[in-house]
Parts: sequence; C-alpha cells; structure tokens
Amino acid sequence: MASRTLLLAALAATATSRFTLSPRQASTVTVDLTKTYQTMDGFGMSETFQRANQMHALSTTLQRQALDLLFNTTSGAGFSILRNGIGSSPDSSSDHMVSIQPKSPGGPSATPKYVWDGNDNSQVWVSTEAVKYGVKTFYANAWSAPGYMKTNGNDANGGTLCGVSGSTCSSGDWKQAFADYLVQYITYYKEVGVEVTHVGFLNEPDLTTSYASMRSSGQQAADFIKVLRPALDKAGYQEVKIACCDAEGWSSQQGMMSGLNGVGEALGVVTAHSYTSSPGSPISTANKQPVWQTENADLQGAWTSTWYGSNGAGEGLLWANKIYDAVVRANCAAYLYWVGVQGGATNSKLIRIADDKKSLIVSKRLWAFANWSRFVRPGAVRVGASGGPSGGKVSAFKNLDGSVSVQVINGGGSAGAVSVKVAGGGFTAKSAKAWITDNSHECDELTSELGTDGSVSASVPARSMVTFVLQP
Ligand SMILES: *[C@@H]1O[C@H](CO)[C@@H](O)[C@H](O)[C@H]1NC(C)=O
Ligand SMILES: *[C@@H]1O[C@H](CO)[C@@H](O)[C@H](O)[C@H]1NC(C)=O
Repeated sequence: MASRTLLLAALAATATSRFTLSPRQASTVTVDLTKTYQTMDGFGMSETFQRANQMHALSTTLQRQALDLLFNTTSGAGFSILRNGIGSSPDSSSDHMVSIQPKSPGGPSATPKYVWDGNDNSQVWVSTEAVKYGVKTFYANAWSAPGYMKTNGNDANGGTLCGVSGSTCSSGDWKQAFADYLVQYITYYKEVGVEVTHVGFLNEPDLTTSYASMRSSGQQAADFIKVLRPALDKAGYQEVKIACCDAEGWSSQQGMMSGLNGVGEALGVVTAHSYTSSPGSPISTANKQPVWQTENADLQGAWTSTWYGSNGAGEGLLWANKIYDAVVRANCAAYLYWVGVQGGATNSKLIRIADDKKSLIVSKRLWAFANWSRFVRPGAVRVGASGGPSGGKVSAFKNLDGSVSVQVINGGGSAGAVSVKVAGGGFTAKSAKAWITDNSHECDELTSELGTDGSVSASVPARSMVTFVLQP
C-alpha cells in the first residue's frame, strides 16, 4: 500500500512554546477501517419549551450569530439534528408548548379540530433556518398527549394515554386520535418545507412532572406504536421513523426494551437521556435499531464557559468525554444536548443569551460538540481506533465523502506527540488537517504537512481535544 506521512507541524504557530514534548510520551493511534461499528446520524440539541422564542426575539445580527454557532459547519458546531417539541398544552402561557388541538374535538372519533399558527413557538423559524444550513434530521417529540386524551385529564402531572394496556377512560380509546394528531403535526412542517424524519410521543415516561409529562411502560409504548406506524404509513410517511422512549436514564430505557421488542422494526430508533444513568454500554435492542442519546445537560450548575478548570459539570472537556463514552462505549448513533441557545445563569444551554440580550456567550461545551459534530457527519461509520495517549480516549469515523476523522482526547496533565496511522481499507491519505480545542483554542486549525510513511503526527496538549481529518 502506497503510503505517505502526514507531519502536522501541529500547534507550531500557537502552542508549541507552551508545551514541552518528551519522546517518552509519544504514542500511536491505529485506525482500523476493517473494523466497523454504528453508522452515525449526528449531533444536536433542542429549542423546545419556547427557547426558540428567546432566539427569535434577538436582533437580526444576533439571530444570525446564534444560528451560525449552532448549525454552521465551518464557524459553528455544525449540528445536524434538531429536536422539536410537539405541544400538548392548552395555551402558550409561561414556557408551555401549545397543542395543535388545544380543545377536545368531543371524543376520540369526532372530526379533529386542529389549529395551526404557522409559528409553533418559533420552532418553525429555527427549523426552516436549519434547513438552509443543510440540516436534514428533524426529531419531532411530544412530551405528552393533550390532557383530554389521558387518564388524568391534564397534559402535565403524568397520567397515561387512554387506550393503552391498563388505561381505560370513560371518553374512550384515544390511541388512533393521538396517532392522527402526530401525523398532522408532521404535515404542518412538511407544508413549510421541513421534513420531519423522526417522531417520538414520550419524554421521560418514567417521571411525573408539573410540566407536560405522560407515563408509559415499554408495553404501553408498544401498544401505541402498533397504531402509530400504520397511521404514518397511510399518510405517506413510510420514511418517518418512530423514536422511543426518551427515558430519563440509560438503565430505565433498557428496562423498557422487553416490552417494546414485540413491535419489531416499527420502532425505528431507541432514544434515552442520561440524567439518572449514563450511556456506559450499549442498550440491547431486538432489531438492532440505532440508539440515540437525546437529552443531557448540566441542568442546575452555575454558568461556566470554561474548557478545563476543576473538572466541573459544565466544563467542555468533561462534555467531550461524555460524548466519547456515549458514542464509543454505548455505540450511540446520535448525541444531543438539552438546549442550544437560551438566557439565564445555568449550564442547561450551550450558548447563553446575555442578560441585556445584546450578546451571546458561548460555552466550551459547544466547542466540545463541534469537535465531534463538524467532522463526524451523518452517515459516517465508526471504525476501529486504539492506542493514543496514556489515559486518553480515541475514536475514528469514516465519512461518506471518504474522509477519515480521528478524535484524540488527552485528559491527562501532560502534552504528548501523537501519530495517527490508518490500517486496512486501502486508505491512502493525500492531505490532512487537525483542529485543536483547549482552554485557549476553539477549534483552531493546525498547519499540516504530508509526509511519506502513512501517518500523521501532531502534538496533543494536556487536557485538550484534537480532531484529525484525513482526506483520501
Ligand atoms: C458559515 O460561516 C461561514 C464563515 O463565517 C460563512 O461564509 C458561510 O456563509 C456560513 N454558512 C451558512 C450556510 O450560512
Ligand atoms: C474543539 O474544542 C476546543 C475546546 O473548546 C475548541 O477550542 C475547538 O475549537 C473545537 N474544535 C472544533 C472543530 O470545533
């Protein structure tokens, strides 16, 4: 195999003076293109619960800046998935997500009385803008059915969907009506040029909250999927995948799987959050469905924009590691943060709207995502990767365009020279680039040089993440 060396004069311009490299610390990352794992769907976040309204209320300059930071693949995170909330509330007060049928039409078989404001709490605006950046994956997710379809008569405070196992209501069985409702929501988006690709009908069904929430077991979710799948197919949405169940944690989603396995491929994607337990190992699925980590955040922690300080819950390096664990240890095909852009003093978002609303404050969490999201594009296949700095983490992906992207997280306190070798798959690098993220760099490009022995070398600073992209 003809091979060349890529010698990255890594960090030459910016960082070399700050790090002393010792040959003892030199390490090799071996990428094996013949070992393949999951196909990636992408990375993303959400602007639900009226967060999109906050974005939309910004000046046009800040709107553009916010959109670029989220979706631009050269100047921002390059997110490829947007998770939208399908409303269930009777009104838009507070941060409620309003329903497309706020009032009961009279019963499950009455003619529906849908209403559509064309705005959907500004989620239509964010979605249509995302389309312009090339986003193709839209996950529309209901936190609950409207209250009149549920055992507790309220879209908040738990309750279950009338008609699933163990849930009978005097008003009747609302499964078909709820399925039709979700189909109608997809149609409203289609009419404005946004193709919903994934639909979910539960959010944290293992938790009762004072906001929109609906309980469900795996079996009850399966009961509904058996109605929703044919409703989607009948409406011409054969390509729209059903996602379930956004349980609060990895283990609770695993616990729902035995009830869900009976629906087979009608379940398109398995979704789970990371709040009560983290993705440390793959969720076992009967039909090898892709698994997405669809929500995680440092919800309450005081705002920090640091990459690395005290290893606090909002720091960028920690999030680079969380994404690694989900993608490499738990084979996740997608990883989504909770909110993208929002005001307020916690880490629940990646980008903070300043209190005076005159600027945006970008956390290094966003750049941790960018390190993955810009270079691991939808359709990329995760491939074998081993070696790297001691105590570090390495991963590699083959993108649809043939490029190979390699992530090296050096969590340790010392810098080291890392050389990346691609084995198998007949891959020959013709050019390579590397990007560095640490306390002082935000996806800054490193100068690179092509050598002769098929490997790329760079100096990886302490507590940093470096992404290599090799072009065939
Ligand atoms: C992304 O950002 C670059 C650099 O600022 C800009 O030239 C480009 O137009 C942006 N892309 C989109 C789709 O707006
Ligand atoms: C990766 O993360 C670092 C740390 O914040 C950041 O400096 C760098 O710009 C990121 N790389 C990309 C490509 O976004």
